[in-house]
Amino acid sequence: MTRPPYLDPELSPQARTDDLIRRMSVEQQIGQMVQADGRYDAVAQVEAQRVGSFLHILGDSTVELQKLAERTGLGIPLIFGIDAIHGHGFWPGAAVFPTQLALSCSWAPELVETMGRVTAKEMLCTGLHWTFSPVLCLTRDLRWGRVGETFGEDPHLLGVLGQAAIRGYQGDDVSLPDSVLACAKHFAGYSETVGGKDATEAELSERKLRTYFLPPFHEAVKAGCRTFMTAYQCIDGVACAANHWLLTELLRDEWGFDGFVVTDWDNVGRAHKMQGLYPSVDAAVPDCVHAGNDMIMVTPEFFEAALANVANGRLDKADVELAARRLLHAKFALGLFDHKRYPPLERAADVVGCTAHRQPLLDAALQSAVLLENRHVDGEPTLPLRPSVRRIAVLGPNADDTLAQLGDWSFGSGQAGLKTGSHPRSSVVTVRDGIESRAAREGIAVDYAQGVTILGNDTSGVAHAAALAANADVAIVVVGDTLEQVGEECDRSDLELGPNQQALLEAVKATGTPLVVLLINSKPLCIPWIAENADAVLELFNPGMRGGEAAAALLFGDSAPSGRLSISFAKHLGQLPVHYQRIPGWHGSKHGHYDDEPLYTFGYGLTYTTFEYSDLRLEQTRVPRGRDVRAEVTVRNSGQVAGVEVVQVYVNDVYTSLSTPSKTLRGFERVSLAPGESRRVTFTLSAEALSFVGRDGTLVLEPGEFELMVGSSSRDQDLKRVRFELT
Ligand code: BGC
Repeated sequence: MTRPPYLDPELSPQARTDDLIRRMSVEQQIGQMVQADGRYDAVAQVEAQRVGSFLHILGDSTVELQKLAERTGLGIPLIFGIDAIHGHGFWPGAAVFPTQLALSCSWAPELVETMGRVTAKEMLCTGLHWTFSPVLCLTRDLRWGRVGETFGEDPHLLGVLGQAAIRGYQGDDVSLPDSVLACAKHFAGYSETVGGKDATEAELSERKLRTYFLPPFHEAVKAGCRTFMTAYQCIDGVACAANHWLLTELLRDEWGFDGFVVTDWDNVGRAHKMQGLYPSVDAAVPDCVHAGNDMIMVTPEFFEAALANVANGRLDKADVELAARRLLHAKFALGLFDHKRYPPLERAADVVGCTAHRQPLLDAALQSAVLLENRHVDGEPTLPLRPSVRRIAVLGPNADDTLAQLGDWSFGSGQAGLKTGSHPRSSVVTVRDGIESRAAREGIAVDYAQGVTILGNDTSGVAHAAALAANADVAIVVVGDTLEQVGEECDRSDLELGPNQQALLEAVKATGTPLVVLLINSKPLCIPWIAENADAVLELFNPGMRGGEAAAALLFGDSAPSGRLSISFAKHLGQLPVHYQRIPGWHGSKHGHYDDEPLYTFGYGLTYTTFEYSDLRLEQTRVPRGRDVRAEVTVRNSGQVAGVEVVQVYVNDVYTSLSTPSKTLRGFERVSLAPGESRRVTFTLSAEALSFVGRDGTLVLEPGEFELMVGSSSRDQDLKRVRFELT
């Protein structure tokens, strides 16, 4: 029997798709659009609906199902997706990196790319083809449960890091067997739901969307991201899942995206059941498909509903065919019809969590940590720890908590309870582990006590912990949040540490022993007491498997902190939002007895040395419209030890016909400098970087006065300024 053209690997994915689609019934095409939860009745779903994809299964089950699909009907392979968000966290022992929020504080795209590469390789060994990552939501409301899944608050930084993640996952060519598909999510405006309440309504004008929330997604398209995931919420009354403008006119027609779109979990069903937009799931199907969703994630009613809608003419067969074509094209591009990507499960143990994959875990944790405070005690900075330190008290609920250290989308988080598996204890180095082994090298004694739990109201362990602190040369107290306060359906109405942790901190402070606070938390908490009372503060967010080792290296000065905040901290919940991109014009500068300044602002972070900026110069101070702007600045390490500075460039178009923020990040560079060394750092800004979004959604470039700001953070006092005129 001759082989049908669609099975001929010599033909292009397009030609193969054309051939295959002609052979398919509408029912088979709808089947391709179904993504089912692989944990339930997977075999029956392949047999009955010929589903195109599963999520949330791994390993042997993927092999069995793929073999079944091969024998069924036209033998169209399945595509398996999973949330490998900061590592392949649902496979025991896989390399779990710092969360996206932590990683983004490194301002190091190459680290993010490495995370993607390692994750792709580990996924492939276990049968997965597609990760629902990166999250490109831009965070402003810190109450939202999913802040830690994002790269922070700035569109430019999100775009750069998002592109890096996509390069990492997809590699040079998705047909190569060590690449997986990336997925830019959640499209769009999902992080901006009112009050931080997950999946409700986002009040976003098109101009606001295009100014802040869409640019990172546009960068994802430019990086060749193969898939997009639709957001849950409504914008101005329209569910993203039914938003034709968003999913088709903008994404495909304007930006030229040619991959496929998957809904989020039961988006189609929720348009009926939760959002009240349709009287039945059946009724929601035509709009959601026509809007531009190609694959429908876990709406069990979808298959039958789509068939019924085709039969009664409400769902256009052409819409179904178009979706099926996009999905098949991706399967051909991945090589699923040819080399099949059967996972080398026997090799998984050698690859997953191997030594080569664990080195970047340490680099990532080291570069992501942000030093927020480092006060002088007896004339010397608290950190790095001094040689006179001979006894350390390691205290607090997150000092030895493997789950808090790994964060969301790993075992123990809301998406996979510990019943489904766990990472071997030996794969995680907690802060306690890290300090104990580092201290042992110098014969330094370490005492440990958890002291309190984060939730509940038992403070009976505080006295013992404080006694250990009193007896030590330094107390390192690790506080933060717990997984129960993090993730989907875990939005918070306060951002305090809670009474237990506060009691512990105050008791340790009262001993007079120098107090170093380490924060392991999913997102910025309101910590004005710590900012005022701790002698040093190191923010780790969820630093991943080697986070404790990194913390020890930074505390002992083996490495210097080099992270800078990708997100601003509020002093008090009522200050929200506190992101740095403010629209000028507010009457006040106070919220009750708090001023309006964030506690720590975007771009901020200390290290063990200091940097001086000088001689900020522009190539031209009158720039003809359409020309690039070139600037140079000298950065010098003015301290005693080597360090990394993140040089940041912000722009302000001083007078604009529509209001615009008075600072927008347009470039950055991590610069490593030896003591006394200086470097001339150059930046080029395109006309686009000087533009703002006009009323009709297009970019506007208005001649006139501009301000260029360069420095070590977005705070006014950290920036050098120079003006130029666009003619
Ligand atoms: C989340 C997505 C995730 C999906 C699949 C949804 O609830 O919003 O981010 O990719 O579940 O697990």
